[in-house]
Amino acid sequence: VSRRALLGTAGATGLALGAAGGAAGYAAAPAQAAPLSSVGSGRVMFHGKHQPGITEGLQACGHLVAFDLTAGAGRREAAALLRRWSVTAGRLMAGEAAPHDDTGVARDAGPSSLTLTFGFGRGFFARTGLEKQRPGALDPLPDFSSDHLDRARSDGDLWVQIGANDALVAFHALRAIQKDAGSAARVRWQMNGFNRTPGATAHPMTARNLMGQLDGTRNPKPADTDFEKRIFVPASGEPTWMANGSYAVVRRIRMLLDDWEKLSLTAQQQVIGRRKADGAPLSGGDETTPMDLEKTDADGEYVVPLTAHARITRPDKNGGAAMLRRPFSYHDGIGPDGTPDAGLLFVCWQADPLRGFVPVQRKLDRGDALSKYIRHEASGLFAVPGGAAEGEYVGQRLLE
Ligand code: HEM
Repeated sequence: VSRRALLGTAGATGLALGAAGGAAGYAAAPAQAAPLSSVGSGRVMFHGKHQPGITEGLQACGHLVAFDLTAGAGRREAAALLRRWSVTAGRLMAGEAAPHDDTGVARDAGPSSLTLTFGFGRGFFARTGLEKQRPGALDPLPDFSSDHLDRARSDGDLWVQIGANDALVAFHALRAIQKDAGSAARVRWQMNGFNRTPGATAHPMTARNLMGQLDGTRNPKPADTDFEKRIFVPASGEPTWMANGSYAVVRRIRMLLDDWEKLSLTAQQQVIGRRKADGAPLSGGDETTPMDLEKTDADGEYVVPLTAHARITRPDKNGGAAMLRRPFSYHDGIGPDGTPDAGLLFVCWQADPLRGFVPVQRKLDRGDALSKYIRHEASGLFAVPGGAAEGEYVGQRLLE
């Protein structure tokens, strides 16, 4: 039975993993159908108005990988590469084998909500003679005083975000993409991340980051009336090849966890302005209650401190700046000094970085209480074109 055929039966007989699933759930499944669990059968469409991997829920595993075009590669080679990548992405996201030399690593697993998302960095346009097509929005991000950026792990001509709810499925996609690059592009940097596995909590919840906070509470929601306008370049936008696309700002932000974990719960909550247990604002209510920035305590002090991260980042304090934060946590082992090399692969999406990430980071740079406990170690800004229509490859409108 092919993996494709298994997929067809998964919807009807799929089992929930997590609280109610696990080994017992599998045993109860009809033996002949060998259905995939709901985790394995989750499928995201490759073709569409927007690329996948932007508005979908957080995935359990992720790889971020940047490539540079090789010396001999120009526009023609880049177009052929995007064509190969698009074919591979379409197949893998449908739970099928890679077009060439499939390694078999993802066999049996189903698509597991795999997404592949492709973007262009600033350097891509000079390398391919397409400078006239380079969006102004790809101008370099300004320097921030708190930056400790490693240039070797920043930027890149091409960027691929891979996410899936299964680690083998995500790794399988990473290898296929790397092999497709062939002699046209080589890996510049690569980072691995993770999130809580969907189904691990009794009901869907905002995810926690490695500091233990609920992170993502105030993200714009697809149902918001201005969601599309804030996150995606309009269909009539400039340059025309970016219609329905978005800009991704990627920051590798190390968390200084030894310092953070020494803080009392009260101090940790004051850094963010929200309760750690349930994400409620310090001004009261529950996670979804609007934060009251004016509320004071018996001593006349603001209950949400002036330096609290959730106060400083509010869109209404930043000229309406809004972004969709869709991060992965990361952990790359323990350093020689005994501290974990861990934190957030912060990925945020917006129609215009100058009206999203930049003003907010400028403000954070000037006095965010969180700054003492984090370090921005790498940075990238990528133009992510709209989704490919059936029969089209990603970026075709730029490269054809
Ligand atoms: C909100 C954590 C970095 C922008 C929050 C919240 C937490 C948090 C716990 C409150 C819950 C929520 O609304 O999601 C962190 C951590 C960071 C980090 C641990 C670094 C490791 C950043 C950066 C930016 C940013 C670099 C952008 C420059 C925002 C925004 C909000 C927010 C826009 C929502 C504000 C609102 O709409 O009211 N963050 N954050 N964060 N953060 Fe961060």
